[in-house]
Amino acid sequence: MKIVIISAVAQNGVIGRSNGDLPWKVKEEFQHFKNTTLGFPVIMGRKTFETLGKPLKGRLNIVITRDKERSFEFDDVKEFYSLNEAIEYCKTLNTEKSFIIGGGEIYRQGISLADEMIISFMDFEADGDVYFPEINEKIWKRDSGEKRNQFEIVHYKRI
Ligand SMILES: NC(=O)c1ccc[n+]([C@@H]2O[C@H](COP(=O)([O-])OP(=O)(O)OC[C@H]3O[C@@H](n4cnc5c(N)ncnc54)[C@H](OP(=O)(O)O)[C@@H]3O)[C@@H](O)[C@H]2O)c1
Repeated sequence: MKIVIISAVAQNGVIGRSNGDLPWKVKEEFQHFKNTTLGFPVIMGRKTFETLGKPLKGRLNIVITRDKERSFEFDDVKEFYSLNEAIEYCKTLNTEKSFIIGGGEIYRQGISLADEMIISFMDFEADGDVYFPEINEKIWKRDSGEKRNQFEIVHYKRI
């Protein structure tokens, strides 16, 4: 099973705001995210899940929290208490890949575990305080790029 990070990153590295908001709305980027992840497990931090408000449809939603009392009362949502536990569970699912979909805290831990990354580099800077971690070019090779209106989708493979 491949572990794939998917994210949208502004020119200044911002991916969101700690109050939960995504600082932009680009419909085509949301559509790309949906098309890419549909049918696969998506792993996210508790804060990102709360910003969504409800599970992403057509995907098993896996939420990471340190709060062992916490359970999320939705079908299609499973909670785990570490990223490693979540990934080990996904490996049992007979799925070709699982996506790590954020936010900042989960990307920082996930970037050393991922096999591939699909990053939408937005054409603008954004106002926020949650950032994507540094992409080390000694570890990550840019595989392909696809220009869209307001963003470019870049695929990375681990070297
Ligand atoms: N642009 C994008 O592509 C994108 C994608 C996703 C999210 N976002 C943005 O990112 C922001 C949220 O990111 P964030 O960094 O604040 O939060 P986050 O990564 O979504 O969630 C952090 C939470 O995850 C849990 N967690 C983290 N590491 C854990 C571990 N090792 N074991 C167990 N639980 C762990 C903790 O939950 P508990 O506190 O419950 O213990 C922690 O508070 C939002 O603004 C959102 O809009 C942007």
